[in-house]
Amino acid sequence: MTAPLTLFASDNYAGVHPAVLEAVAAANAGWARAYGDDEWTDRLREKLRELFGDVEAFPVFNGTGGNVTALSAVLRPYEAVICPETAHINVDECGAPERIAGAKLVDVPTADGKLTPELLRSRLTGFGDQHHVQARVASISQSTELGTVYTPGEISALARTAHEAGLLLQMDGARLVNAAEALGLELRELTSDCGVDVLTLGGTKSGLLGAEAVVFFRPELAAGYLYARKQGTQLASKMRFISAQLLCLFEGDLWRETAGHANAMARRLGDAVAATPGAELAYPLQANAVFAALPPAAIERLHERYHFYVWDEDAGVVRLMCSWQTTPADIEELAGALAEAMGG
Ligand SMILES: Cc1ncc(COP(=O)(O)O)c(C=O)c1O
Repeated sequence: MTAPLTLFASDNYAGVHPAVLEAVAAANAGWARAYGDDEWTDRLREKLRELFGDVEAFPVFNGTGGNVTALSAVLRPYEAVICPETAHINVDECGAPERIAGAKLVDVPTADGKLTPELLRSRLTGFGDQHHVQARVASISQSTELGTVYTPGEISALARTAHEAGLLLQMDGARLVNAAEALGLELRELTSDCGVDVLTLGGTKSGLLGAEAVVFFRPELAAGYLYARKQGTQLASKMRFISAQLLCLFEGDLWRETAGHANAMARRLGDAVAATPGAELAYPLQANAVFAALPPAAIERLHERYHFYVWDEDAGVVRLMCSWQTTPADIEELAGALAEAMGG
């Protein structure tokens, strides 16, 4: 039996975009100052200011590290983060926010992975009570772990609710580019313009070798970040190679191209799922993730040909991710396998 195909398991399973490898090779010209004092990192800071406004931006190795160090920079030891139950920081970071940032996470069940002002308000309790952890950050993921996307209006409403209560709004933007492309918006229209305070800007899922950035929208919040990043083991000595990747993605339109393609492939796959009798979309398909509800026997049969993750065993919901590298032929092949698995 041949090994199951891995291409729909995660956008992290995709390779590195050739332009990114070229950019890394081009940055490999001789010597450069270490730890971020290099021309690539300077150019990246400038580029991110062009895209987001007056921000302080810091390259890091990965998304977990970006989230955790951003949170440690803005939290005091007795402060908490309110986030959806499904948040990556809550379920997929091995407790790093608790252990490394020392933060209590207060998680909230949601219908579709999205925090709302009402849900946030329901956890805004215990202020001024010495027995109670003090909420300081509301955290959202854009796009969410369930493939849904916050509109600018929804983010602004959350920022208003958070700020009125003295909280900051942090965004895990591992797939911010997919959300921006899906809505046809600029990156700042989903962040700076909506009142987001701190962002972990994703890159790896869009074809980088491994690079993300922590972006502070209010420079005073970044005051301690250099130390939080170093303590959090996210300070790259040869930072030019991290910055060169991010520059390659954001200097031109590569982020639009890779995210737009991944989203388009997901839409195609979503159409195929919706057209398959007995299969249905479990959540609104708004970015590059397709969540399908399938009968257990079909999941088992499909697993013989494809490796992918079952998101909710009880409900038979599986996650099929598309990436910059997914092709229309890949979608057609999976759609055929799905129809067969469903007994069609
Ligand atoms: C929503 C979200 N945030 C953050 C990350 C970043 O994780 P990593 O530390 O693997 O780069 C991921 C990766 O799967 C993710 O899906």
